[in-house]
Amino acid sequence: MTYFFKAKFLLLLFFLSLLSANLILAFEREDLELQRCQHQCKHQEKFDERQQRECEQRCEDYLEEKQRRQHVEQRREQGYQEEEDGKQYRDNPYLFDEQSWRTVIEEEGGSTKVLERFTRKSNLLRGIDNFRVSLYEANPRTFSLPNHWDAESVSFVTNGYGTITLVKNNNRETFNIKRGDILRIPAGTIVYLVNKDKQEKLQIIDAFSIPGHFETFFGLGGKENPESYFRAFNTEILAAAFNVHSREKVERLFGERKKGVFLRASEKQIRELTKHASSEGGIWPFRGGGRPRGPFNLFDQRPSTSNNFGELYEAKPHEFKQLPELDVGVSFANISRGAMAGPYFNTRAVKVAVVVDGTGWFEMACPHYHPSTSQSFEEQGRSRLQEEEEEEREGESGPQYQKIRGQLSPGTVFVTLVGHPLVVLASNDENLQLVCFEINAEHNERIQLAGKENVIQQLEKEAKELSFGVPEKQVDEVFNSQKESFFFPGPHHRHGGGHAST
Ligand code: CU
Repeated sequence: MTYFFKAKFLLLLFFLSLLSANLILAFEREDLELQRCQHQCKHQEKFDERQQRECEQRCEDYLEEKQRRQHVEQRREQGYQEEEDGKQYRDNPYLFDEQSWRTVIEEEGGSTKVLERFTRKSNLLRGIDNFRVSLYEANPRTFSLPNHWDAESVSFVTNGYGTITLVKNNNRETFNIKRGDILRIPAGTIVYLVNKDKQEKLQIIDAFSIPGHFETFFGLGGKENPESYFRAFNTEILAAAFNVHSREKVERLFGERKKGVFLRASEKQIRELTKHASSEGGIWPFRGGGRPRGPFNLFDQRPSTSNNFGELYEAKPHEFKQLPELDVGVSFANISRGAMAGPYFNTRAVKVAVVVDGTGWFEMACPHYHPSTSQSFEEQGRSRLQEEEEEEREGESGPQYQKIRGQLSPGTVFVTLVGHPLVVLASNDENLQLVCFEINAEHNERIQLAGKENVIQQLEKEAKELSFGVPEKQVDEVFNSQKESFFFPGPHHRHGGGHAST
């Protein structure tokens, strides 16, 4: 008897020690990562003590953020497991919700947010890892401090009225901007904005192209909030460079704590800042001729596709002279409530869609993603074994398609990979509006899989019959019934809205 209890006790002890060893290991891993990160800070020769401390702080922030995300990820996984019927998905590697935005600046006057790196979510998105998306929002009557980015950008104004000033050597230009304007801002351009409206917020979505990390640089700042990059240099060096005899003058200019990035401006200041603004960026499309630098408005054009169920406005790289360098196309889709766009697929472009208004959902067919084999997305480098397994599966019965599904609301972002069939649906309550950045957009085509222009109807009778194993008539009854093109009445719409909204 005693022997039995002793054995049980020993066993318990053994498990407890295993558990604690695991916990210790986990802590140690994080500790090690932190130490390694902070170690690197210490060995940055150009860092002074203050910068070292800040660097170390950033290491801590980074790890904290990572832990937080892991936690959210776990909770999300549990949630989704309970949620979906039949075809399960634990998470969606193509969907980014409000948790995926990192706030960079949050002030009374405005805010900026950056979407996490695409590969932090899933390795399936490594093809677009050098793209980042950010949101800029300024309150009425504000001026936002001049800064530059180490990245090329394409911007789309989603709301409001303002001016943007672009400064390069010997050149300063100010343009009026409003909803629908597209702007290309070359890397290193010093940019500042004024929201000149009395009521409306000025909102801009930016797509940045940069390998790796991207940063904003403020020169006209102070000690902090924001800090000026001039403070990275010794005062003596600055005094010499500016040819100023008193160091104090330099220290005073850069030594104050500033009032933030978004500053309230007076009527007079706004008048002065905006009075030279030109409205003519150029009439789009710019065929031939010079290279206008200013914005053009997407809504000045006729939609490339439109009917009662939606409209699509597009700026393709070859039509907008500033876009080809980046090979990014920009489009705006307005899907009527209860309606849908697609199914279709893109031949070359990876599409990053940002929801600006409305609610709905998307569905996409993906042969890559298998919820059963995927781990945490952060480390979802698929193992050899998994890839072999997949290849075997493919050998047997062709690829299998996972239904990727995601709810959409303002601020959510989703990615569509090349060749992946996709459909986007608006809820019954409101129109769904999306701004899309199409990466690798040159020569991209949308191949429609339903509707008047669907690609299947171009096949010969024999090809249809052999492929489906039924007479052509039966194929045509399905594929030739829809008379609309691209935008269609959605499933609920057609049945009189009797279905529960999903
Ligand atoms: Cu896929």
